[in-house]
Formats: sequence, structure tokens, C-alpha cells
Amino acid sequence: MEGAAERLSAQASGPLRGGLRPPGDKSISHRALIFGLLSVGVTQIEGLLEGEDVLNTAQACRALGARVERLGPGRWRVEGCGVGSLLAPSQTLDFGNSGTGMRLMMGVVGGHDFTARFDGDASLRKRPMRRILDPLELMGARTLSQAEGGRCPIELKGAAEPLPIEYRSPVASAQVKSAVLLAGLNSPGRTVVIEPEASRDHTEKMLRYFGADVAVEPFGAEGRKITLEGRPELRPKPIVVPGDPSSAAFALVAGLIAPGSEIVIEAMMMNPLRVGLLTTLLEMGADVEILDRREEGGEEVADLRVRASALHGVDVPAGRAPSMIDEYPVLAVAAAFARGTTRMRGLAELRVKESDRLEAVAAGLRACGLEPRIEGDDLIVEGRAGDVQGGGLVKTHLDHRIAMSFLVLGLAAREGVAIDDSRMIATSFPAFRGEMERLGARFS
Ligand code: S3P
Repeated sequence: MEGAAERLSAQASGPLRGGLRPPGDKSISHRALIFGLLSVGVTQIEGLLEGEDVLNTAQACRALGARVERLGPGRWRVEGCGVGSLLAPSQTLDFGNSGTGMRLMMGVVGGHDFTARFDGDASLRKRPMRRILDPLELMGARTLSQAEGGRCPIELKGAAEPLPIEYRSPVASAQVKSAVLLAGLNSPGRTVVIEPEASRDHTEKMLRYFGADVAVEPFGAEGRKITLEGRPELRPKPIVVPGDPSSAAFALVAGLIAPGSEIVIEAMMMNPLRVGLLTTLLEMGADVEILDRREEGGEEVADLRVRASALHGVDVPAGRAPSMIDEYPVLAVAAAFARGTTRMRGLAELRVKESDRLEAVAAGLRACGLEPRIEGDDLIVEGRAGDVQGGGLVKTHLDHRIAMSFLVLGLAAREGVAIDDSRMIATSFPAFRGEMERLGARFS
């Protein structure tokens, strides 16, 4: 990100009131563009998230040969060239802040006979990419150059004929799973991925929707085995992107902790592998009514009526992490306002997100007068039963979710909160400030 950091403060606000429609789901938006690229013909997309992360993926799709056009707000058209017929990009693929865009596209390139160079911003340059390169190398791709520790900039030469592999992923990561499956699309055989715990299943669902043969079976106590038949003919299909639960999370927690609030979050995706935060907040005593469950674009969505609530601390099991991996920063904020102790277990993966989120959350809470502890991979927050001091300047480390989480904390803290840089919010939720102000949030 170029230019100077932009500080932003949130002040203790009156009750939040009204409705908010979260932006299109980020995971599905990336995949919608990529599947458009990988099928021959025209894919129409509605409700695409127009955040910087997704726009970078759109740009990468263009560099690989797709015609990508914006027809109107959230309405996009992708004319793809199909698996096996992509173009070698003439310039570096720059994914900015987006690990998802980069890792999924490494999978695409890994299954094609050309070389691409991948790069990103200072945050993305710190994130581990070996987890993607390792399986791609087993499939025949070659890493021609990489920065220390398998970080970008990375030059990757894809495999002309990717070997069909059975890959046991050491982490429950949808990005790893997706990269292997996307590379496997151009393999003449069967690609199998086994994940230790079920992670978000948007890639599998979209593969099927576009006509691929994909089998999903349980594996062990919590894992899954996904089998893809190679070289399917992907056919373009219209995509309606549902509301992002990871973005809705900020309004959801704000509505619970700002006294007197009553808000409605409209059309939030309820995919069971994405709603761990909602489950946890309900256990904490949140007053959330789930209304009008319905289907939109192949996913269940619902409206949530959220009322300010006296929350209590809970023990969040490690097994729930994959279904709420991006929501721990804002859950930690809810925990700060709860009565009693919240223990969030098994958060090792938080250390390799846009920032080291475990440290960033703990440091942010400390700046707001709390005394969180990190024990191994667990985060422990002693709640203040609604009375959080705030007043700190929180470091966001180029991490959009740290930025939005602590602004939410500021809306209900005695002395508000300032964050050192708000620019990254545009990567996933460009309308965050305006939408929250419409509900009554005060920022300056
Ligand atoms: C994502 C997967 C998750 C998540 C990220 C989006 C995806 O990462 O944190 O924001 O769209 O596949 P991991 O797969 O590394 O857990």
C-alpha cells in the first residue's frame, strides 16, 4: 500500500439501529472470477465483492487471458478461455494484500505449462507459501525462485500434465485444498485431497456447479476426503454471491455490545462451515434471532435480528476454528465485553494471516485496558462485563480485520479507540464506515 497511513477513531456511540446488508462473500467472489476464467464462455456474476483483494484477482484473470468486465455495481461478466488454454502472463501477478487470491491462482498456474511471477504487499510478502508450493511440486510444478522461507516474490512454473496425487494436507486450510484441486483440473487422472478438519467448501461446491465430478466423504473424526476427476469440461454458470458472514461479523458484534442496539443483518450466508462465530455468540448469551432462512445462489442465507446483550465468557473448542478462522479478532472484542473468561483454543493458524493476529489482537486489547493472555496457541480474555476502558491507539499491521474489530470495540468503550491505519478496510469491506455510520456508529 502506497502513501501515508490513515488514522481513524471510533467513539462511544448511542444505540445502533437499522438494517445492514453485508457485501458479497470474499471467498466466493475470488472463486467466481477464477471459475469464469477456467470455463469456456461467459460467466455472469451478481453481488461480487468489489474490494481490493477481489479486484486484484480480476486483474490476474485478465492477465491469464480472460475478458473481465464490470457491468454495474456488483455485476460482472467474465469470458473465460478454459482449463488448458490460459495465456502465460506477461507481467507479475500482484495480489496486493490477498493470500486467498494468490494461493488459489498458484493452484491454477500450477496446472498449466507456463511460468508466472507472484507478488504482493508487505503483509503478503511475510506469509508462508510453501504450504501451496509443496503439493504443487508433487504434481510436477517447479518453483523457479522464491524469497527466504518460501515467501513471495515467487516464480512458479506449472506442470504441462499435472500428476494426479493424493494429498494429505497438514493444515485445515481451504486455500491449500483449493490450490491442489484447481491444479488437478488439468490432470489426466484423479486428484484427492484429505483435510484433517473440514474447511470452507466453496471450491468443491463451485466445481460441481460448473460440471466437474467431485466426491466428498468424511475422513476420520472431523476430516474430509475430496476426489476430483481431472479434465472436466467446465461450463459457465450464473453466480449470485451471498452476503459475507466474515464482514457481517463486525456489525453483529457491534450490535451486541453497543448498549440499547437493535439491528438487522440482511441475507447473510449461513454455510455451516462459516458460522462458527454465530454459534459461539449464541453460547455466550447473544440475543440473535435467525429469520427467514432461504436459499440464494446455492447457499443458505438468513436475516439476523441482533439486540444488545449481556454476554458471558465461554470456552471455544479448537475444532471450531476452521468455521470461524477470520472471526477471532472480533470474537475477542465480544469477549472483552462479556462477564467472565473466554478461552479460544487452537489458534496457531492466526499467526499466518494478514498479520500475526494472535499477537495483534492481544496487543490491541492491552492498548484498550484489558489483560489478555496467550498460552501456547490459546487466547484468554477476562471480560469486563460491558465496561471496557478503550482509549488506546491500536496497531493494525496492514490487517483489515484487526482494523475493523478494534473500531467496533471503540463504539462501545468508555474512551473510544483509535487505529493507526484504516486503509486496509478497502480490501474486504470498502463500505464499512458508511454502512456502520448509517446504523449510528461515530467515527472521526
Ligand atoms: C479462505 C480461507 C481461509 C481464510 C481466508 C479465506 C478461502 O484461509 O482465512 O480469509 O477463501 O479459501 P486458510 O485456508 O488458510 O485457513
